[in-house]
Amino acid sequence: MNALLYFILIAMGPIAIGGHFEFNNVRCLVRDRKFMEFDYCFLRSVNRTYKYLSLKTKLHKLPITNTVTSVQVRIRENKRILYNFDVRFDACKFLRDRRNVIVNWMFQTFSEFSNINHTCPYHHDIILDKVPVQHINKIVQSVVPDGRYYMNSSWSVDGIPRCDLVVYFTKS
Ligand SMILES: *[C@@H]1O[C@H](CO)[C@@H](O)[C@H](O)[C@H]1NC(C)=O
Ligand SMILES: *[C@@H]1O[C@H](CO)[C@@H](O)[C@H](O)[C@H]1NC(C)=O
Ligand SMILES: *[C@@H]1O[C@H](CO)[C@@H](O)[C@H](O)[C@H]1NC(C)=O
Repeated sequence: MNALLYFILIAMGPIAIGGHFEFNNVRCLVRDRKFMEFDYCFLRSVNRTYKYLSLKTKLHKLPITNTVTSVQVRIRENKRILYNFDVRFDACKFLRDRRNVIVNWMFQTFSEFSNINHTCPYHHDIILDKVPVQHINKIVQSVVPDGRYYMNSSWSVDGIPRCDLVVYFTKS
């Protein structure tokens, strides 16, 4: 997995610098309404430069002591799929050791705008509060290649899929 990140950094970094990043769509899909719902989940454009993503869960069964997350990322350029990769990780373990480079990189794009920067268990709802596209721009600018992206993260708690968060974005 680390090798893949380094590949992207080395192969695509120089080409991608100075790119422009845009959220296109976000969807929060609940798989189990007895377990959780979303209070809100949306993108907002305040003006041309300030766009953000916000979401809040409504968890019906707290605390959360274990969760496994699968993230699938696809990058397209026109109709060609440039990359298609999957990362699967134990989120509570990651929050303890912060060892996974790719996950750490994804985590950094939103952690300071969230209330999730602590180890398990979680006794509260998850909030992403106005994650600005500009901030993600700064982090991903030199790392990811241009293209249309689809990122689907699927969250399981106690071994059962509970929700999927799908984000579409473009880098040009
Ligand atoms: C966009 O809105 C933000 C927040 O209200 C503001 O700080 C910024 O100056 C605005 N930018 C432009 C180009 O109007
Ligand atoms: C998250 O928590 C860690 C450890 O407590 C801290 O070092 C780090 O600065 C925090 N990151 C953010 C974005 O708040
Ligand atoms: C997201 O991933 C999950 C788990 O792999 C899958 O079941 C679901 O259909 C995917 N959602 C979309 C919109 O692709």
